[in-house]
Amino acid sequence: MTEKKSFLEEVIDGLSQEQKTLPCKYLYDARGSLLFEEICELDEYYPTRTELAIMHRYSEEVSSQVGEEALLIEYGSGSSRKTRLLLDSLREPSCYVPIDISPEILADSAAAIAKIYPDLEVHPLCADYLSPVAIPIPEKQFRRRVVYFPGSTIGNFEPVEALEFLARMARQAGSGGGVLIGVDLRKDSQVLERAYDDARGVTAQFDLNLLVRMNRELGADFPLDDFRHTARWEPDLGRVEMRLVCKAACRVDIAGHAFDFSAGEYIHTESAYKYDVGEFASLATKAGLSPQTVWTDDSKKFSIHYLTVPDSLGFQSGSDREPIDPDLG
Ligand SMILES: C[S@@+](CC[C@H](N)C(=O)[O-])C[C@H]1O[C@@H](n2cnc3c(N)ncnc32)[C@H](O)[C@@H]1O
Repeated sequence: MTEKKSFLEEVIDGLSQEQKTLPCKYLYDARGSLLFEEICELDEYYPTRTELAIMHRYSEEVSSQVGEEALLIEYGSGSSRKTRLLLDSLREPSCYVPIDISPEILADSAAAIAKIYPDLEVHPLCADYLSPVAIPIPEKQFRRRVVYFPGSTIGNFEPVEALEFLARMARQAGSGGGVLIGVDLRKDSQVLERAYDDARGVTAQFDLNLLVRMNRELGADFPLDDFRHTARWEPDLGRVEMRLVCKAACRVDIAGHAFDFSAGEYIHTESAYKYDVGEFASLATKAGLSPQTVWTDDSKKFSIHYLTVPDSLGFQSGSDREPIDPDLG
C-alpha cells in the first residue's frame, strides 16, 4: 500500500506540475462543506434538486431493488440529505456507514440520522475514501451491502480512476450486494458552465476558499484578490473544469517552496465528468457490476443507476459477518 500523502505534499506535487492542479477533496473543509450546501440550493445548480426529485418519484422502485435489511455504505455523505429520503423508503435498513473527509458535517449529519432513525445502527467514518477504508462489523444482522454514491461525485474522478473506484465498490459490496449511484448527464454547455459558476458567486467562494485554506493551514501567501474562479466545459474531454485563474503575475510561497504564476495561468481545482446513460453503464460493466435499473428525470438531466455484484465475481458475500479486509476496501 502506498503511504498516504499530507495536504502539504499533495499541494506541492500538484502545483509543481506543468498544468497546476489541486485535489478537489481539499475544497471540503468546514467552510467549504457549508458553501457546498449553499450551492445545492442555487437555481443554476440543477443536480441536487433533480437527483432528489428522481429519488422521490421512484422511491418504491429503489427500495425494492435495495431490498430489506441492507447495510448502507455511503461515500462522500456530506449532509446526508438524499440518504434521509432513501432511508424513509427502505424496508428495515440495518446499518448506515457514512464516510466523509469533512469531520464537522459528517458528525452533524450522522447524529441527525441516528436521532431520526433510532433502530438504525449508524457508524460514521471520517476518512479519505481514496485510501482503503475498513467497514465496521455491525451488531445487527444484514442481508446485503449496498454502496450509495450520490451527487455525481463519481464525475470528479478521471474515467480510468472511476473504473477502479467502481470495481472497489463492487468488492466492498461483495457478491449479492449493490451499488446505487447518481450520475450527471451531458447537456448544453451553458447550462453546465452556469451550474459551476453561478451569478451570486457562491461557487466562486467555494473554489477560492481553497486558497484561504492553504494560507491558513499551510502558511501559504496566496494574494486572494489576484485570483478569480471560472468554469469551462471541455467538450473533447466531456468534463467541466473548475479553475482558479491568476489575474496578475505573482510568486507564492508555501512552506519554503516558491511557485510562480503568470497572468492568465490557472490552477485546475475540480473536474466534473458528464456521462451518457449507456456510457456509464458500460463503464460499470467493465468494473464487474451488472446494470439493473436506471432512473432519470423527464428532461434527462441526471441519472441514478442501480447495479449489482454478480456471484460469479466470487467476492466475499455481503451477509458474512466477517470484517471486510481493509486492503479490499
Ligand atoms: C459533491 S459533494 C456531495 C455531497 C452529497 N453526497 C450530495 O450528494 O449532495 C462531495 C462530498 O464528498 C466528500 N468528499 C470529497 N472527496 C472526498 C474524499 N476523498 N474522501 C471522503 N470524502 C470526500 C465531501 O466532503 C462532500 O461531502
